[in-house]
Amino acid sequence: MIKYTLAFACSSDGFIAKYSGDNPFEWTSLEDKNHLNTLIKNHKWQVMGRKTHELNPNDTRSRVIFSRKYQEIKQIKNSINQFYFNPDFNQWEEFENLCQESVLVLGGTSVHDYFLYADLIDEIFITIEPLTFNEGIPAFTYINFKDLTPYLEERGYRHTEQKINDGGSLLVSFSKT
Ligand SMILES: NC(=O)c1ccc[n+]([C@@H]2O[C@H](COP(=O)([O-])OP(=O)(O)OC[C@H]3O[C@@H](n4cnc5c(N)ncnc54)[C@H](OP(=O)(O)O)[C@@H]3O)[C@@H](O)[C@H]2O)c1
Repeated sequence: MIKYTLAFACSSDGFIAKYSGDNPFEWTSLEDKNHLNTLIKNHKWQVMGRKTHELNPNDTRSRVIFSRKYQEIKQIKNSINQFYFNPDFNQWEEFENLCQESVLVLGGTSVHDYFLYADLIDEIFITIEPLTFNEGIPAFTYINFKDLTPYLEERGYRHTEQKINDGGSLLVSFSKT
């Protein structure tokens, strides 16, 4: 069975980017970057929206990229393990035939929404940086960030949190296992 892990960094008011195209690496802590690198090493596959993929291209990583541009699963380039996938048309079985191993879900908002709504996620890591954006790209559309912990606890996730540096960055983990 595929293990699905969702990971993102956000401001204390729950925004994953200041605007579409904002690169979180400009405001995330070193500790979060190290944490993300470890997660990437430990997961065979990544899944993300087209914009996130285009902002962080990397031909060496195995990726499924959500896009509505294609109705069929489409390999982006020959010899590169990256595929466009459209959940409006493609079956989930096709996704799981493609990936078969651990999957790291890497945003953005509607990809978070999709996986949470479909109840596919085993583990969630959220790095909350000590920043306030007031506006931007939210982590989810249908849940207020401040309501996320009770929302997940009601759905059977246990949660822990730890300070990861002296600046006040917090790593919040939710797990069903
Ligand atoms: N802080 C973090 O941890 C973090 C993580 C990820 C991203 N980000 C930031 O968030 C921003 C991008 O996020 P975003 O939410 O604007 O865009 P995004 O999710 O990366 O990409 C949106 C595109 O993905 C495709 N897509 C998304 N959900 C889909 C679905 N259910 N079915 C089919 N296609 C789907 C669509 O592509 P088509 O237009 O091709 O149909 C859509 O236009 C960037 O600034 C990025 O750096 C931050």
